[in-house]
Amino acid sequence: MKNILITGGAGFIGSHVVRLFVNNYPNYNIINLDVLTYAGNLENLKGIEDKPNYTFVKADICDYNLIEEIFSKYDIDGVIHLAAESHVDRSIKDPFAFAQTNIMGTLSLLQAAKNKWKDDFKDKLFYHVSTDEVYGSLGEEGFFTETTSYDPHSPYSASKASSDHFVRAFHDTYGLPVLISNCSNNYGAYQFPEKLIPLFINNICNNKPLPVYGKGENVRDWLFVNDHARAIDVIFHKGKLGDTYNIGGFNEWKNIDLIRVLIKTVDKLLGRKEGESEKLIKYVTDRAGHDFRYAIDSTKLKDELGWEPSLQFEEGIEKTVKWYLENKDWVDNVTTGGYQKYYNEMYK
Ligand code: NAD
Ligand code: TYD
Repeated sequence: MKNILITGGAGFIGSHVVRLFVNNYPNYNIINLDVLTYAGNLENLKGIEDKPNYTFVKADICDYNLIEEIFSKYDIDGVIHLAAESHVDRSIKDPFAFAQTNIMGTLSLLQAAKNKWKDDFKDKLFYHVSTDEVYGSLGEEGFFTETTSYDPHSPYSASKASSDHFVRAFHDTYGLPVLISNCSNNYGAYQFPEKLIPLFINNICNNKPLPVYGKGENVRDWLFVNDHARAIDVIFHKGKLGDTYNIGGFNEWKNIDLIRVLIKTVDKLLGRKEGESEKLIKYVTDRAGHDFRYAIDSTKLKDELGWEPSLQFEEGIEKTVKWYLENKDWVDNVTTGGYQKYYNEMYK
């Protein structure tokens, strides 16, 4: 494989994946395709724009004719598909946008890949990046494995579940060589500050209220984004065609406990008194359909492909908080304009 199309490469996870592939694989041409929604930002790719094996193409994955042209023009033989609408709260407000991008956009890429590669699928690969949220919600016990039945509850997870089904359908019906991974919640640099961790870091810095949904007792399983990118690399190169891999770090946190770690870390780095920002915690109305607990069993990925997370959570959180403190300009750029309107509507 030579010409790899990465979709959503200007977003949070996509930018880490693009950076890793451009730097580690000079023999691949990396074509980053992104339409640059509010979540896509070319600043996330600082330092690699001028590399000879990197090309950026601004395009909408839903525009089938254009996607077909791009597959031909760049002679694409591998795809890593990350482009999506990704925020649950937005999906509750506007489910159509999620169905359009996540389902129809994925279908458009699948169809373009099938038509470009015809029946010669040798050395071709369509890798679809998905989420653990397709499995639904766990009680106090148990883990999601690769064979857990799908049971999505939010418009976001329903649209991702549907896209996963289309990817498997293209494998089973047309023999398209596919891989799927389902990852737990990511955190790290370049995450748009509407998701819990960057939103709360930013609010603590600015002494703004921290809107905790419900009682703060929901549980999420957190993975450092660079470890997700490393897992995608391993699965892309060594995964068994047609298979699914769960990605997670066995790192569960109750929201309120995680929020206290964030407060402690930010207060320490800003030289504030320990716990000073606890007063910013504000319990607000729960998210509709709020999944109680996510927990990923990533044993298959470890046993079959040898991947393990590289970082302990406390170390990852400290690195992440430092990054947001040192990159205030980035945060200010993405939190002005349209974002401000969104924030005022969501948290009035
Ligand atoms: P993100 O919202 O930060 O980035 C999404 C990117 O996709 C943006 O650059 C955006 O411009 C682009 N995009 C959106 N619609 C597009 C379209 N129609 N055409 C072309 N580009 C488009 O998302 P993220 O958090 O980086 O997530 C990336 C992928 O990983 C998603 O598929 C998501 O479902 C999955 N995932 C995310 C997490 C997480 O914790 N963030 C966990 C597991 C899986
Ligand atoms: P989020 O980062 O949106 O990820 P997801 O919903 O995809 O897991 O939210 C993580 C958890 O934090 C989730 O249980 C919802 C909760 N949450 C809040 O309590 N307040 C907030 O303002 C946000 C954005 C999330």
